[in-house]
Amino acid sequence: MKKAGFALSTLMALALYGSVSAYAAPANSNQAMCLACHANVAQMHTGNKHKDLSCTTCHDGTDKHLKNQKDHPTVSMSPQQCGTCHTDQFNTMYKVNDHRVPRDSKKNLNNIAPNPFFDEALGAHGFVKEHNLLRSHAFAAIDQFICDRAFGGRFEPKDGWLFGGDEGGFIGVWDKIKDTVPENNLQKPHKPGTAAAANPVCWTCKSTDVMMDWAYMGDPKSGAKWSRASNPVDLVKNINHAVNCNMCHDPHSAKPRVVRDALIQAMTRTDFPTLYSESKNKTGMQVVDMGLRGFTRKIGILDKPDSKLMCAQCHVEYNCNPGTDPATGKPIKMDDIRTNLFPLVDVTKIDEYYKHASFKDFKHNQTGALLTKMQHPDVEIYWNSKHDQMGIGCASCHMPKVKDEKTGKTYTSHWATTPSAYIQETCLQCHKDKSEKQMKMVVKSMNVHYMSKLREAEASMTQMFEAFREAKAAGVSLDVIKQAQELHSIAHSNWEWWTAANGAWFHNLPQAKASLAKSVEASKKATALLRSEAAKLYPKPAKTKVASK
Ligand code: HEC
Ligand code: HEC
Ligand code: HEC
Ligand code: HEC
Ligand code: HEC
Ligand code: HEC
Ligand code: HEC
Repeated sequence: MKKAGFALSTLMALALYGSVSAYAAPANSNQAMCLACHANVAQMHTGNKHKDLSCTTCHDGTDKHLKNQKDHPTVSMSPQQCGTCHTDQFNTMYKVNDHRVPRDSKKNLNNIAPNPFFDEALGAHGFVKEHNLLRSHAFAAIDQFICDRAFGGRFEPKDGWLFGGDEGGFIGVWDKIKDTVPENNLQKPHKPGTAAAANPVCWTCKSTDVMMDWAYMGDPKSGAKWSRASNPVDLVKNINHAVNCNMCHDPHSAKPRVVRDALIQAMTRTDFPTLYSESKNKTGMQVVDMGLRGFTRKIGILDKPDSKLMCAQCHVEYNCNPGTDPATGKPIKMDDIRTNLFPLVDVTKIDEYYKHASFKDFKHNQTGALLTKMQHPDVEIYWNSKHDQMGIGCASCHMPKVKDEKTGKTYTSHWATTPSAYIQETCLQCHKDKSEKQMKMVVKSMNVHYMSKLREAEASMTQMFEAFREAKAAGVSLDVIKQAQELHSIAHSNWEWWTAANGAWFHNLPQAKASLAKSVEASKKATALLRSEAAKLYPKPAKTKVASK
């Protein structure tokens, strides 16, 4: 208890100073013992920026632990622990931008994937249940808990729709939501119009809260409480924070890092070239095994801060759900490691990659084609773009350097949002000959042009769906239908990639246009094939004699 009190008062004193540099840790004789047993932590802690922070700054209950190792010290995943000293970064992290309305669907008319087309193209996939536009990181946990497609509608905000007026600032999601079906843990639709598509892997992508009890890749291991196959409802009751500080920063060394296992796997895989492996000036990563309770837990320490890789823990295309093996037609379930997979390739390679991995998400309910469900491939799209080629990271436009108004110290704003919120601190740092108004118009024009290309791809796919119906009615052979299904799969990947993405109109417009043109070409080809085959089967119109005058 004495230790806990010490830790708290140290933190409070620091909070009052409001400056991290004033800190000097008191000598701690126990620390040498900690470091002797925890060699991997020692290697991180010694000689690095957090070297003067004693273990008890962040871990309580160490006295008991020294007597019995099975009696664990506390480990806090709360951003508040870091925020006590790093107030500027913490406060900006929970700032929100009201440019987005809570629960605004991507499928509403003026948004990126308007209905009725989207639902027809997605067939019976879960995303027909609710597919929202993204908003500020402060809401990352609550928005997933309450989404109609995630937990069958069982989680609701405590104060109902009043939550929509929330201006952020909250850190723990359980202060905000309640379970309306506390009597069971069944992951199934509990309310009309909902689905229960969330699973444990979704959460490793949002939070580090259960990271210590999760073996590498979510494999089931004795000693690790959770795995890919755990009950999702039980698991998320242990999740309270999203986008924790320790996703991007190692707490012991304060070095930049990544912890998302599927990203570490993708960056170290050699079976298929990735954007990372092909990249000439990539940031190096040292993989360290932190596991200490009989299972492996990997972290990737980066040679230098590289926001592109940090953001790649979440803003990428990934697979986190069951599917089908296209080679065998057999189902792939959560016990298969392919349910936790980052391809880390761009749109030009994505179909090839999933063929290599032999994974498809779902079968289209009309055409029968096996399709890939895309997720927000923001990093892959940005990779090799014009700005990326010049070595500009995501942070230059989404986490600008700003000044603390009181102390005058420069720090990194952790308020990731559209650069329109801070054009002066981002675009205009480099485009010095332009004004804020001009840059906003630049982005807007790229956006509307992109939207028009999406609508063209969708119109062409609508024709293709019509042609499938005609061909099936006419009794076109399975062989021809199969050829058309292959084309549908290409048209789908090269369209949906761009509706799943965020900011792609700006991040890489040339690649978007080339890919959307490929989608149009594939759907047109399918339409032509199906229609010409159907035409052969239609009964020839009887020749009627034209009465002569
Ligand atoms: C004699 C060796 C030894 C010493 C000394 C020691 N630890 Fe540990 N520590 C362990 C072992 C072994 C485990 C894993 C126990 C288990 O299997 O559950 C562990 C676990 C932990 C955990 C993990 C908790 C979790 O939830 O997984 C933390 C944190 C920790 N120790 C911190 C410390 C700190 C801080 C000190 C110094 C005050 C310290 N340890 C001293 C051996 C040691
Ligand atoms: C700034 C806060 C902070 C300080 C200081 C700190 N830790 Fe930790 N520690 C954490 C966090 C957060 C975790 C959770 C794991 C992670 O983020 O990698 C952790 C995890 C651990 C673990 C579990 C390892 C694992 O990954 O399973 C051990 C052991 C540990 N700390 C020991 C120590 C020792 C020994 C010291 C002192 C030399 C220390 N910690 C100082 C924040 C801290
Ligand atoms: C008790 C105060 C304290 C706490 C708590 C604390 N830090 Fe620090 N942190 C410091 C100090 C002191 C420095 C060194 C500042 C310097 O050298 O300018 C630092 C530096 C850093 C840096 C900069 C590293 C660099 O290379 O420039 C990062 C990132 C960081 N901390 C992240 C974290 C995270 C993440 C947590 C929570 C797990 C955390 N800190 C908790 C005091 C703290
Ligand atoms: C998504 C990744 C990410 C998360 C999450 C994150 N940071 Fe950072 N952090 C960064 C990046 C990028 C930088 C800038 C590194 C650079 O340019 O040197 C940074 C820099 C820092 C620094 C160094 C000083 C500065 O302002 O440049 C501190 C301290 C820090 N972060 C603390 C935190 C704390 C505290 C949290 C949680 C409230 C947090 N970070 C969450 C990515 C992240
Ligand atoms: C742990 C996962 C995770 C990491 C790491 C992460 N993000 Fe996010 N990000 C999300 C989620 C989830 C949302 C959507 C939250 C919502 O809608 O409630 C989001 C939303 C955003 C938004 C929209 C904010 C707004 O105001 O509209 C931007 C911009 C963004 N992220 C940029 C970044 C950048 C840049 C990085 C890297 C420095 C990053 N993110 C790292 C998960 C993450
Ligand atoms: C770190 C510096 C930097 C930042 C920040 C930056 N840019 Fe650029 N941008 C460049 C450079 C350098 C070029 C290349 C100029 C050239 O090719 O002549 C460029 C090119 C462009 C182009 C032309 C690309 C093309 O091929 O058509 C546009 C448009 C653009 N930037 C808009 C923006 C906007 C909008 C922002 C803010 C959201 C921004 N930039 C932020 C450095 C930057
Ligand atoms: C050169 C500037 C620049 C860089 C670098 C950049 N972005 Fe963006 N980003 C933008 C612009 C401009 C938008 C579109 C904003 C708009 O239309 O309002 C955007 C939009 C986004 C959005 C959607 C925000 C929203 O609210 O809809 C996300 C998420 C995002 N970017 C993530 C990233 C990630 C991750 C990286 C790095 C891989 C990155 N960005 C690199 C300028 C940039």
